[in-house]
Amino acid sequence: MITISSHVLYLRAVALGLVICSGCAAAQELDEPILPLPLTVELDPARVALGEKLFNDPRLAHNNAMACASCHQLEQGGDDGLPRSITNSGEPDVINTPGIFNRAFNFRQTWGGAFRTLEEQAEAALHNPRHAATTWEELLPKLAADAQYAASFSRIYGGVRKEHVLDAIATYERSLITPNAPFDRYLRGDARAISAEQKHGYELFKSYGCISCHQGVNVGGNLFQKFGLFEDYFKLRGGPLMPADLGRYNVTKDERDRHVFRVPSLRNIAVTAPYFHDGSVEKLGYAVEVMARVQLGRKPPPHEVQAIVSFLESLTGEYQGRTLAAPRSTP
Ligand code: HEC
Ligand code: HEC
Repeated sequence: MITISSHVLYLRAVALGLVICSGCAAAQELDEPILPLPLTVELDPARVALGEKLFNDPRLAHNNAMACASCHQLEQGGDDGLPRSITNSGEPDVINTPGIFNRAFNFRQTWGGAFRTLEEQAEAALHNPRHAATTWEELLPKLAADAQYAASFSRIYGGVRKEHVLDAIATYERSLITPNAPFDRYLRGDARAISAEQKHGYELFKSYGCISCHQGVNVGGNLFQKFGLFEDYFKLRGGPLMPADLGRYNVTKDERDRHVFRVPSLRNIAVTAPYFHDGSVEKLGYAVEVMARVQLGRKPPPHEVQAIVSFLESLTGEYQGRTLAAPRSTP
């Protein structure tokens, strides 16, 4: 599996002019600050299958009624299309649900970057009082009492233990990649994979400076940045400030992290509305305008916003050979 750090090194090597043949495997691959997702990842199929079953099983939750997939729906771009998901108590959650695809390529998990690994994040989701709300004391005996789970865990891992549950879920998550987006095909040398407007949008994405934050294999997911560098986003949004708006400050309690967020990945962004950690923006065009304004102090004209949106649409990839669908659209 390709790691973020190897990409960062690769990018540095490109910047230093050290890379003469781009990876050599694909000689005509373009030298760009965005890299294509790998077409496949090598994972143990038995662990992936067990993880898939766990991810989709509502019995993991204390109330036996909420699966990971209740909020992270693969047919909905990996989230649920809601500003905030409905928790197990029927209340809206505190923060927007991110997509679940390509998460292994992000350097941290969650909007505020609370976790370094998918395993740590999965354990937190199991304990989260709004999500699975379970404990290991409750969950492990439940799984061991199920004949199918007991057999799978024993065959693959030699028993049902917490590390094994987390490994299975995280391995499944690592399998959730969406390669072959039109833009990735373009990066791999197919000049006709994206339209003239999408190319123009990509040039604008670079010239406005979006690329300084959203780059690498996930078009984001490898930096922390303050939300609101040129203008106060929260004033622009209006409404009361919520705890989730503090971002990374909630993780570190360091003043410098107030309103700092992990720069999100823009892969599949066209199918994961609504936008931002508060899920407050429904239209991608408006999200682009907000970004230009608060992160870059710029106001692109409508036709440029449209071109950038069009470029972002070229980042929608395929899961198991099918292009991801927009929320609530018929597959
Ligand atoms: C009630 C809805 C809900 C359920 C159920 C749920 N999640 Fe999430 N998930 C969220 C929300 C909301 C976040 C963002 C949390 C944050 O940023 O603080 C999230 C974040 C994540 C992330 C990090 C994504 C990113 O971009 O940083 C992963 C991975 C994830 N969840 C996996 C899981 C797994 C595994 C389960 C089951 C054990 C699960 N989730 C159950 C709502 C849910
Ligand atoms: C200084 C860093 C920075 C720059 C420059 C920047 N962004 Fe962002 N972007 C972020 C951060 C941080 C967030 C997360 C905001 C939040 O917490 O909701 C974000 C969020 C987004 C989102 C919403 C993602 C989601 O999953 O909801 C989009 C779309 C986006 N940016 C596009 C752009 C575009 C287009 C540009 C250029 C006009 C741009 N960004 C420039 C840092 C940046």
